[in-house]
Amino acid sequence: MQRLIPGLAMTMALAGPAVADPLRDMALGLFGPLPDAVTEVEGVPVTPALVDLGRVLFFDPRLSAQGQLSCAGCHDLASGGDDGRVVMVGQDGTEGLRNTSTVLNAVLNDVHFWDGREADRALQAGGPVRAGLALLDAPEPMLARLQAVPGYGDLFLAAFPGEPITADSLALALEAFAATLLTPAPFDAWLKGDDSALSAEAKAGVQLFNDRGCSLCHYGPMLGGADYYPLGLVELPGIDIKAADESAAGEGVDEFVFRTAPLRNVALTAPYFHSGKVADLAGAVDVMAAGQLGSPLAPEETAQIVAFLDSLTGSLEITPPVLP
Ligand code: HEC
Ligand code: HEC
Repeated sequence: MQRLIPGLAMTMALAGPAVADPLRDMALGLFGPLPDAVTEVEGVPVTPALVDLGRVLFFDPRLSAQGQLSCAGCHDLASGGDDGRVVMVGQDGTEGLRNTSTVLNAVLNDVHFWDGREADRALQAGGPVRAGLALLDAPEPMLARLQAVPGYGDLFLAAFPGEPITADSLALALEAFAATLLTPAPFDAWLKGDDSALSAEAKAGVQLFNDRGCSLCHYGPMLGGADYYPLGLVELPGIDIKAADESAAGEGVDEFVFRTAPLRNVALTAPYFHSGKVADLAGAVDVMAAGQLGSPLAPEETAQIVAFLDSLTGSLEITPPVLP
């Protein structure tokens, strides 16, 4: 289940080639920049027509049973791609159990949900877009409502020539739109050679992130999102960090397994962790240093890592579409 890469961080730090910037070489090896584009989802090319349809669907509250909530209602693209809440709130006003993940760059995650227990992973097989659709309404009434909107006929026809409107085509269009939500950041500019894109403090943070072992779990262009690990590897988190469905005691480490959170735009996606119970980024970094690595950071070290994480904040221009 866990895929640790022991020694990799060390080897790369020690044996980096003797070129101008060993820190950048190390970071290129461990993380790498975001791709310029994602051109395929589920083996289907991401066409402009598919993206146009997906964009409209993403913002359309008519997908929801009560006509009030859209994907964008929980995934606000203008502020980090999440909802800023501790846990999700459904259309009937009831709270969910998990913090809302950002959709920004999420296409690049290998795994998509917080919970990593076997039973949870079986439930997640349909993927996050279908799970999001299920939060809005059942497929039949949703499709019936959309088919009754005249403008959708043309949008579906352009995206899926000659095919009927199905729940699968809906999901595919949304996935194609989500694949366009890439947010290149100062960190990418630095990886590509722009020395001035990162402050000295942020560069020290990159070094520390590697030296302290954060990159054992947070690696790849998403700095996470690749696998599941026990939370509290060294020290189980206190009840103050657990979610409402988790008890104070009783769970073994194996039961408390979560996805390594991807860290792109993490400065915008407070509050933190699956429970949403840690309000600020420095606090989340300190929880990780103590609980995952057993080596608390000095305040200036925390600040350096936070400066590095700030450099993962990217930009994206999305104009909300006119709904048909
Ligand atoms: C009521 C709030 C809500 C709505 C509506 C919603 N989502 Fe989500 N979304 C969440 C939550 C909460 C998670 C994290 C779930 C988990 O991991 O348990 C999530 C996760 C995701 C992810 C996974 C990101 C990752 O980290 O890999 C994607 C993609 C996503 N949603 C897309 C969508 C789309 C597309 C829609 C519309 C069809 C949608 N969501 C509607 C709350 C919502
Ligand atoms: C053993 C693997 C592991 C190591 C080492 C590790 N993390 Fe994490 N990290 C995780 C997991 C798993 C989560 C998600 C935990 C949860 O939400 O319950 C996470 C979550 C986070 C979050 C919260 C992100 C969010 O969106 O909620 C931040 C910030 C973070 N890690 C930073 C760090 C830093 C900085 C270090 C080094 C000091 C580090 N991590 C070391 C596995 C690890």
